[in-house]
Amino acid sequence: MKIAIAADHGGFEMKETLKAHFAAQNMPLDDLGTFSDESVDYPDFAHKMADYILQKKADLGILICGTGIGISIAANRHKGIRAALVYNEFAAQMAKEHNNANIIVFGGRTMNAADVVKYCHIFLNSTFQGGRHQNRIHKIEQEC
Ligand code: RB5
Repeated sequence: MKIAIAADHGGFEMKETLKAHFAAQNMPLDDLGTFSDESVDYPDFAHKMADYILQKKADLGILICGTGIGISIAANRHKGIRAALVYNEFAAQMAKEHNNANIIVFGGRTMNAADVVKYCHIFLNSTFQGGRHQNRIHKIEQEC
């Protein structure tokens, strides 16, 4: 499983923590930036990640901004992207089992790193249930 990560300045520190965690587990992440805590625009990183996932350069994306809200909104503008803002253990499990999210999103200023690491592993250890949930995903993909 190939995982990519990107953040704005509000998520930079969390991104570095997650990168170090996954590297220690022998699962290096593709880092799409940002590369410092200098102010940047979160949509740039949402779009970069969405293109990366849609081009199948990674199986899963992790996005982080200050709250996780802006970068989720931007990523979900892309058809085929299901970016889930994960905020507790149940949401981490459901984001995979029901939503088959291809991007998981966190708030760098609203969550702590230990919880975010836990949510990542819950997501990675869960399985999409398909069936009625696949039908609902098809409905998301219909033009509005
Ligand atoms: C940047 O200051 C902040 O607005 C951004 O990280 C994010 O929280 C937006 O939703």
